Amino acid sequence: MSTAISPTAYNYKVVRQFAIMTVVWGILGMGLGVFIASQLVWPELNFGLPWTTFGRLRPLHTNLVIFAFGGCALFATSYYVVQRTCQTRLISDSLAAFTFWGWQAVIVGAIVTLPLGYTTTKEYAELEWPLAILLAIVWVTYGLVFFGTIVKRKTKHIYVGNWFYGAFIVVTAMLHIVNHASLPVSFFKSYSAYSGATDAMIQWWYGHNAVGFFLTTGFLGMMYYFVPKQAERPIYSYRLSIVHFWALITLYIWAGPHHLHYTALPDWAQSLGMAMSIILLAPSWGGMINGMMTLSGAWHKLRTDPILRFLVVSLAFYGMSTFEGPMMAIKTVNSLSHYTDWTIGHVHAGALGWVAMISIGALYHMIPKVFGRQQMHSIGLINAHFWLATIGTVLYIASMWVNGITQGLMWRAINDDGTLTYSFVEALQASHPGFIVRALGGAFFAAGMLFMAYNVFRTVRASNPAEAEAAAQIAVVGAH
Ligand code: HEM
Ligand code: HEM
Repeated sequence: MSTAISPTAYNYKVVRQFAIMTVVWGILGMGLGVFIASQLVWPELNFGLPWTTFGRLRPLHTNLVIFAFGGCALFATSYYVVQRTCQTRLISDSLAAFTFWGWQAVIVGAIVTLPLGYTTTKEYAELEWPLAILLAIVWVTYGLVFFGTIVKRKTKHIYVGNWFYGAFIVVTAMLHIVNHASLPVSFFKSYSAYSGATDAMIQWWYGHNAVGFFLTTGFLGMMYYFVPKQAERPIYSYRLSIVHFWALITLYIWAGPHHLHYTALPDWAQSLGMAMSIILLAPSWGGMINGMMTLSGAWHKLRTDPILRFLVVSLAFYGMSTFEGPMMAIKTVNSLSHYTDWTIGHVHAGALGWVAMISIGALYHMIPKVFGRQQMHSIGLINAHFWLATIGTVLYIASMWVNGITQGLMWRAINDDGTLTYSFVEALQASHPGFIVRALGGAFFAAGMLFMAYNVFRTVRASNPAEAEAAAQIAVVGAH
């Protein structure tokens, strides 16, 4: 058909920006993870300075890996996926650019304020009110860009990946705004609008759903686009994707109390949270099975395609951590696991195995496309990265299981006369070898990110963004 070049080519600029920053923040956040892991091995690394202590750098690590690394990966891929599956350009370039610069400003704000000790003290919601307000504005703008683009789509259906991204955007806004309701007393200090057990409940309603919607639902959106694309197979079951979508978002929201077992929270709320967490296994595995089964008839590709390997192994870790989570939500199991390194192992099975690996796989698929290249500079380097990431994750979580169970059992061991068998320091000494293995595993994972940075650098240096845009234009025009 004869067409003047459509002005509706995709906006890949913002995708490129977020994609590059994913790698940059990934290296910084994981590098900091290795550093705080090393502090637990060699406490001298705290340097006796307030702003370099574990207590201040740990929240900086979590903010950098979750919001900077994970957040940029979600922005990049959702903007890419929504345009391609709706066959239309983002609704506004300037609003999209605002979300990029606004998001980076929030991250820089975190890097400055957290080491200085400014914090609300609520985990994963540490940023003080001026930054929290900026984050809310950026997030609502993100929602406008995303849903505005869906509204002006040229396709009949809304692809299932967009349902997941959409739920992640809406629920994250709700969680952030409700949990951050507070009374500022100065520019750097605010007090929560809630008190006592209510405050704890709202915080863990937020915290758990940060896991459920930020670290899970958003990344499932990613999974639903990049796994079928890389495997060159249609998604295994569209029906299953719809059923597990609604089950997942309906159940997650109730599971928060499993973070507050044996606390002042009413007992019935704890039991409700436990029951909902156990049922959550089903929709979680629905997603994993749907992703895995998409490879039916394409399993042989794993032999030669390290990108697909990243994606599939991430699903395996997703399945593993969403089996472990419901088990840990059972009150009797939680009485052993809570406060121990078992929780830390569970977190990183999800964070490294699932969140980071699916993001890395998606980026390796997407980066050449948005930079106008056939493929990444080096497939061999992707393969090396895959092994570093996999071995690193296994070392991390296995050492934390051993530590967690050791700690739980040592803390609860009681002599015949009712006194404790072990002091806290003895349990800490027993944890030392595990801390060393964890730091090593983390270093493996972070080293893999450096391979990625070099590979991306070489790909980008030889890139041709104009060609990528032109190809996108043809795709849009050609589709109609
Ligand atoms: C090189 C990789 C990484 C290393 C070495 C690392 C290391 C650590 C360490 C040492 C802690 C503190 C543990 C403690 O308090 O005992 C921690 C906490 C945490 N990290 Fe990482 N991390 C890495 C990557 C990631 C990634 C990619 C994510 C998320 C996407 C993540 C999310 C978290 C979270 C949520 C916590 C807090 C856990 C809790 O409070 O239970 N980490 N990490
Ligand atoms: C069905 C799914 C899941 C359930 C039922 C679940 C359940 C749990 C439970 C019971 C805890 C321990 C709470 C405590 O003792 O304090 C926990 C901690 C945690 N989980 Fe999961 N989990 C699930 C999946 C995931 C996934 C996929 C991720 C990451 C991507 C994740 C990230 C975390 C984090 C970050 C914490 C630590 C929170 C904190 O104390 O700071 N979970 N989860």
